[in-house]
Parts: sequence; C-alpha cells; structure tokens
Amino acid sequence: MISFPLPTVIVGALVDGKPNFNAIAYCGIAQSKPPILAVSMDKKRYTHSGIVENGCFSVNVPSEDMLSQTNYVGTTTGHEVDKSGIFTVFYGKLGKAPLIEECLAAMECELIDSMDFRGKNDLLIGKIVESYVDESCIERGWLDLSRLKPLIFSRSDHSYWTIGRCLGTVNEVQNVKNDEK
Ligand SMILES: Cc1cc2nc3c(=O)[nH]c(=O)nc-3n(C[C@H](O)[C@H](O)[C@H](O)COP(=O)(O)O)c2cc1C
Repeated sequence: MISFPLPTVIVGALVDGKPNFNAIAYCGIAQSKPPILAVSMDKKRYTHSGIVENGCFSVNVPSEDMLSQTNYVGTTTGHEVDKSGIFTVFYGKLGKAPLIEECLAAMECELIDSMDFRGKNDLLIGKIVESYVDESCIERGWLDLSRLKPLIFSRSDHSYWTIGRCLGTVNEVQNVKNDEK
C-alpha cells in the first residue's frame, strides 16, 4: 500500500467516566450534508471501547505546537496510563464526548454506524453534531489552514509534517485542457 498525506487528529471518548484520547491518522470526511466523518480504529484501543460504550466521540485537530502531546496520546494507551489530565476538556451538545480546549478546531460526533472489515480495525462512522473553531483561525468566514497549522502524517516512515503555502482556491486556479499542455 502506498502512503498519501494523512491528517493527524486526536480522538476523544469517555471510558468508564474518564476522558481518554488517542492519535488518529486514518480519518476523513465521508459526506458534507449532513456532515459525516469516518475514523478507522483498532478494536483494541482503549478509546474504541469508550466510543462503543457511549455512542459518541470527539475529533480534535491539533496544531503544530501540540506535536508533543499528540505524539504522547498516540504512543501510550489508556489501558496502562491515565491520559485524562493531558488536555483541558469541555463538553458540548452530546455531553459525553470530551473535546479539547487547546485544539483550535474540534468536532463532536455521534456514532451512527461502524464497519468491521474482519481485520484489526473498525471504521467508526460519526455524524458531526457540532463543530468548534477558534475565532483566531477564521478569515472571511472560513477556516484558514495557515492559522490552524494542522499536522500531516506520513504513514510510510511515521513522520509528522506541516502544510505548505496556499496555491489558490478552486475558482482561482486556471484549468488547462489536455491538448493545451
Ligand atoms: C500519528 C499517529 C497516528 C495514528 N493513527 C492511528 C489510526 O489511524 N488508527 C488507530 O487505530 N491507531 C492509530 N494510532 C495509534 C494509537 O493512537 C495508539 O495505539 C494509542 O496508544 C492508542 O491509545 P488508546 O489505547 O488509549 O486509545 C496512531 C498513532 C500515531 C502516533
């Protein structure tokens, strides 16, 4: 399998009443209306048990300055350590999906389905019931990635990357037909 650039998010869930978090690179938007996302998570993850237990989870987008905490929650397990105090936690509409105050963008998701590929992972399908974005990342009503500074993950060598510069919007980029190349 080749590796293309992956996002790096922190997924949160309550496990036995306590917040737990892990790092997830296998995450993507599945639909925009209504907004649905999908997270592929190993069934043995401590966070997985909390998502199934409560039927909800959070997806938090860490910025570059949260690299160390992101790596920590992605390399330690709630089966062995208590990760409940790593971040400042708040709760939204669902009341049981721990969201991270330090992340400039976060989403609260209701678990609406899951797919078992008969392997290690479950694809957890979440309906996004609320999104939280820090105003410092908003430019003309839109989320500005240059301010969010998200982390990109390369699966092949397990390395973290930052995003580069903006090349233009869909409307700004001039299309070139094949025969004009
Ligand atoms: C950058 C990064 C990305 C990761 N992506 C995934 C992923 O997509 N799915 C998964 O199941 N585990 C992934 N992991 C591994 C879990 O985050 C890791 O096993 C963590 O310790 C699980 O914590 P928990 O048992 O407390 O839930 C990733 C780890 C890192 C560092």
